[in-house]
Amino acid sequence: MSLSEKYIEEGEKNLLHTYNRFPIVLDHGEGVYLTDVDGKKYLDFASGIAVFALGYNDPEYNDALKKQIDKIIHTSNLYYNVPAVEAAKELCAVSGMDRVFFTNSGTEAIEGAIKSALKYAYTKAPADDYEIIAMEHSFHGRSMGALSVTGNAHYREAFGEGIGHIEFAEYNDLESVKAKINSKTCAIIMETVQGEGGIYPASEEFLKGVRKICDENDILLILDEIQCGMGRTGSMFAFEDYGIKPDILTTAKALGCGVPVGAFLMTERVAEKSLVPGDHGSTYGGNPFACAAVLEVLRQYKEKDIVGHVKEITPYLEAKLDELKEKFPNIIDRRGKGFMQALEFDGPVGEIVTKAQEKGALIITAGTNVLRLVPPLIIEKEHVDSIVSILTEILQKY
Ligand SMILES: Cc1ncc(COP(=O)(O)O)c(C=O)c1O
Repeated sequence: MSLSEKYIEEGEKNLLHTYNRFPIVLDHGEGVYLTDVDGKKYLDFASGIAVFALGYNDPEYNDALKKQIDKIIHTSNLYYNVPAVEAAKELCAVSGMDRVFFTNSGTEAIEGAIKSALKYAYTKAPADDYEIIAMEHSFHGRSMGALSVTGNAHYREAFGEGIGHIEFAEYNDLESVKAKINSKTCAIIMETVQGEGGIYPASEEFLKGVRKICDENDILLILDEIQCGMGRTGSMFAFEDYGIKPDILTTAKALGCGVPVGAFLMTERVAEKSLVPGDHGSTYGGNPFACAAVLEVLRQYKEKDIVGHVKEITPYLEAKLDELKEKFPNIIDRRGKGFMQALEFDGPVGEIVTKAQEKGALIITAGTNVLRLVPPLIIEKEHVDSIVSILTEILQKY
């Protein structure tokens, strides 16, 4: 029995079976490569689902965390802590937002965003039936609030009505949003680039149109950039490319590059009429350890011009994926932005994922027929060549 088999057998006895995990037990990483407990090495085009932007085992990142461990890991939010104060300043600066609340996950960032929007509406005119418009095929997380605005009905069906008062519109279809607006609508929530739903960027016409509807009706625009933000699309936040700004923004994943941390941010205009002391809180949220990670991540983004790097390599990645599409007719679409790319096939891609693993590469899916490529943001052209060559080998026999 290999070490991997041993841990998988043990794990299956005690871990709740909520994931159909691949039979891989990861042990350590270096740059854009991961190694399992049996010593097998993988080129990582998954980044722990769009998380590990800076690559694995970065000495400066590790040192920043170690230093913070030696100082203090947790304080609670009854007191201030230096990393949280500094991370808040930096995150507001890079996002153009005014106020931030740190959370422990993406899902919690969505919860906070929903509560902020409801409180904003309530402050203007108290009522308990304000509506939120969310998008079909969206994904916002697994807690009851986040699930309630998640457009994939399959995720919701066993869990009742959720928080209620949610209307679903079609993504990239302005008319369908307009049809759902009424005097009770207080917010529209959407991903700037839909991730789990299959990697669909918002069209410019759609996002600008939604912004205009929000402005005209004092409806809050919540942009979920938990997956597509933090440089992944070649801008610090994907909304920048559209010349618009959300009222509330959510981020997580690459924000801590592996340390569990998320955030919801808002403009001062929203903050003035939204959450006040007693409305929201978190024991861990914004603790010094998590915020030391945020600070170091943002420092490295600046120092290494991570966003510029994504911009520089993206045309090469897209050209190579387009070549693949030309060569193999079972690839019916290549779409995405920056290092958030999809190859859509005319059938299920599960076998391609498994074969890639056998050949030493990690790729994930976004729906049954879609391969999702979300590598660490530090990949170079040679890594693009490697993944394309692995995919070519697989597809020649597919
Ligand atoms: C767009 C989006 N929102 C929210 C979430 C939930 O984040 P988390 O898994 O950190 O709770 C995800 C996770 O994949 C996501 O992609």
